[in-house]
Amino acid sequence: MILITGGRGTVATELRSLLIDDGHAVRIGSARPDELDPPAAVCDLKDPSTFAAALDDVSSVFLYANATHISEFVTAATEAGVDHIVLLSSSATLDPDATTNPVAKAHLDAELGLADAPMTVTVLRPGAFAGNARGWAWSIRAGRPVNLPYPNAYADPIHERDIAAVAHALLTRPDHRGRGHTLTGPQTLTFTEQLELIGTIIDRPVEIAHVTPEAWRAEVADFMPAHFATGLLDYWARCDGVPTPLSDAVEVITGHPARPFAQWVQEHRDAFAATQ
Ligand SMILES: NC(=O)c1ccc[n+]([C@@H]2O[C@H](COP(=O)([O-])OP(=O)(O)OC[C@H]3O[C@@H](n4cnc5c(N)ncnc54)[C@H](OP(=O)(O)O)[C@@H]3O)[C@@H](O)[C@H]2O)c1
Repeated sequence: MILITGGRGTVATELRSLLIDDGHAVRIGSARPDELDPPAAVCDLKDPSTFAAALDDVSSVFLYANATHISEFVTAATEAGVDHIVLLSSSATLDPDATTNPVAKAHLDAELGLADAPMTVTVLRPGAFAGNARGWAWSIRAGRPVNLPYPNAYADPIHERDIAAVAHALLTRPDHRGRGHTLTGPQTLTFTEQLELIGTIIDRPVEIAHVTPEAWRAEVADFMPAHFATGLLDYWARCDGVPTPLSDAVEVITGHPARPFAQWVQEHRDAFAATQ
């Protein structure tokens, strides 16, 4: 039995489909199991009392990077006889400021929590998710400019289905296990290039407003903790004008090339459709 934690998540949802299509026995765990259809098992990574039941009869786990109770999770997984954990971490853990940047550190703490685990641990380190473009959708739908502090920062947008496909391959085949894999999309694109591409696909130009980091921080203050906003701004400043090195891991592990950002936008073009 394979346990997928964080069952409502995008990658978890894609992975669930891939494993079920293949006929694998899967248990979906979620902090809000009733919100899934069919209802999932209770597995709240912030509540260790839920771990033992979620892990009963489980041999491998897809784990979101939540370090809050990672040692309790390892103990419960060991007691359950789990022999492989695939952790969804982040390429930010490889950055020079990984121990101080809050975005990176949250993932690094989860990786470190698994470092001495007795089972095989495979760490996925994706860069930027293609789905981060959803953050621009409201402005684009409303016909407003997208405010960017670093319009020329590069990213490596990866389709979430490719991350799920890598996890699927690792959970179902013995190759490539037991190490870290940096995962990227097939192209490195600046935010400006990503927005131009969205504009081409929705057939409506997208305007960009180059704002100061302080203005952007104020814009997100209501829904993003300040230290997290600082972490993102520091990261984008480092990526400004610097193309992201690309990885061929998606193709090596899954046997198919990584899906381009344009495919993600085509699949989600309704999210950017103009409001009437
Ligand atoms: N975005 C990036 O560019 C990026 C880059 C590198 C790594 N990552 C990693 O990938 C993770 C995001 O993966 P993802 O996109 O698959 O996850 P997601 O859709 O952002 O969901 C993350 C988790 O949040 C919980 N959740 C709470 N409320 C939810 C709701 N209304 N809808 C859906 N899920 C909800 C779910 O766990 P429960 O079902 O248990 O509540 C879910 O697994 C990040 O947290 C980060 O660790 C992201």
